[in-house]
Amino acid sequence: MQYSKKVLNHFTKPHNQGELKNSDAQSVVGNPKCGDIMKIYLKIKKDKEGRDIIDDIKFQTLGCGAAIATSSMATDLVKGKTLDEAMKITNQQVATELGGLPQAKLHCSNLAADAIHKAIQNYKK
Ligand code: FES
Repeated sequence: MQYSKKVLNHFTKPHNQGELKNSDAQSVVGNPKCGDIMKIYLKIKKDKEGRDIIDDIKFQTLGCGAAIATSSMATDLVKGKTLDEAMKITNQQVATELGGLPQAKLHCSNLAADAIHKAIQNYKK
């Protein structure tokens, strides 16, 4: 299987890449299979109903093209969402939104959702 057009787009022009100054929470997650790592920065604010939402999110990924594309897609998916909604994002969902990943690259999607979940947990601590 080849990479989908969406994967290539997110790899060549990643969204939400970089560092977020004054972030409210961070996380770092590593992929034990390949040694790649991803760092997530979250900026949280209250919405009109008083719920915590992800006002801004950025990532820094030291990894393969699939890891960068999944980081970009995952951060797009949770931006503006409540923390509860963002906690429900799954690795599978990220891969599906990208139009699928080659079998050998499926493990790369683990980083993004895991790092987002961990950053939210760190914020709640
Ligand atoms: S090979 Fe490491 S995340 Fe893809």
